Amino acid sequence: RTFRIAAIPADGVGTEVVAAGRAVLDALAENSDGAFAFDWEEFPWGCDYYGKTGKMIDDDGLERLKEFDAIYFGAVGWPTVPDHISLWGLRLKICQNFDQWANIRPVHFLPGVQSPLRKADHTELDWVVVRENSEGEYAGLGGRNLSGRGPGGEVAIQSALFTEVGCERVMRFAFDLARTRDRRKVSSVTKSNAQQYGMVLWDEVFKRVAQDYPDVETESVLVDAMSAKFVLRPEDLSVVVASNLNADILSDLGSALAGSLGLAASANLNPERRYPSMFEPVHGSAPDIAGQGLANPIGAVGSAALMLEHFGLPEQAARLNRAIEATTAAGVLTRDVGGTATTEDVTKALIGHLTN
Ligand code: NAI
Ligand code: MG
Repeated sequence: RTFRIAAIPADGVGTEVVAAGRAVLDALAENSDGAFAFDWEEFPWGCDYYGKTGKMIDDDGLERLKEFDAIYFGAVGWPTVPDHISLWGLRLKICQNFDQWANIRPVHFLPGVQSPLRKADHTELDWVVVRENSEGEYAGLGGRNLSGRGPGGEVAIQSALFTEVGCERVMRFAFDLARTRDRRKVSSVTKSNAQQYGMVLWDEVFKRVAQDYPDVETESVLVDAMSAKFVLRPEDLSVVVASNLNADILSDLGSALAGSLGLAASANLNPERRYPSMFEPVHGSAPDIAGQGLANPIGAVGSAALMLEHFGLPEQAARLNRAIEATTAAGVLTRDVGGTATTEDVTKALIGHLTN
């Protein structure tokens, strides 16, 4: 079958890693004896587009995206546009309108990649961070200038939204995921000692949902303690479920502990499949290295593997992940993971490991 994919490379290294991911996926399809194919359409949305048109995405953009099987996204954000405008205008707009309420971010060691934890002799790191992706601290609730006072007296409020339905669905997702893994454990993260409404609701829902999964080990950990645990006891974690902000921060920490932000993959899922899901590397547009062929494409290619799983092609996803491991094991590494290879070198090596 042919899968229709909307590519949105957007800004900076987003364009480089999406091109790499597309090349790898096309090579995979070409070597599938016609079992499946990808039909791509690329959209020019992002900060350049905003500079030209005043819009991060066309007015009918969401309507057009709706008919695709998936969205393959690069990264949004560039110094010419305030980050809250570019992020809300494109990425968060897609996530929220398409109800992509589960964001999964796997973290694991790759062969041949050094990391701070490996240096500290931790041999095992294999987690999935499950991020609540529709509400919490990124619900967009609040306002500016609430005091009505002039300069120097402004008051702003940023509220977090927690609903029982929103908490419960992402927790069930995390528990179901834990059941597919060797280590059946879910760690829930909050700051419910300091945030006494939403986060306490989260904790209560977690306890209730856990009762339906007696075969899964659980723990509730405060986010500050969890950030220490990520570093000190990585082998003690399997699935980590957290609110939008906490999981956002923890997953960047996790990917750095595994070696680099450039390695980290993610999927923004609409589990009901009413709308397309979106697959993207965890990292941003990396203006400091953009346009120089230095971007690590592995986060984007790992996200493509998550897309293949979503398409019901788990053996193809595994093939792609094996190509990633063979590439890093062979020492074909970009600068962020201590090598000298370019984005293109890594892409070629990945394709080589797929086709032979
Ligand atoms: P960033 O993730 O773009 O960069 C952080 C550091 O990681 C930089 O040193 C960068 O060079 C490095 N890095 C990132 N991706 C890499 C890759 N593929 N290979 C090698 N090194 C890589 O985060 P930063 O600098 O905070 O944000 C830059 C822009 O990206 C901002 O406009 C921000 O709003 C946006 N952003 C967008 C995201 C998205 O679209 N999902 C996520 C995070 C940030
Ligand atoms: Mg982030």
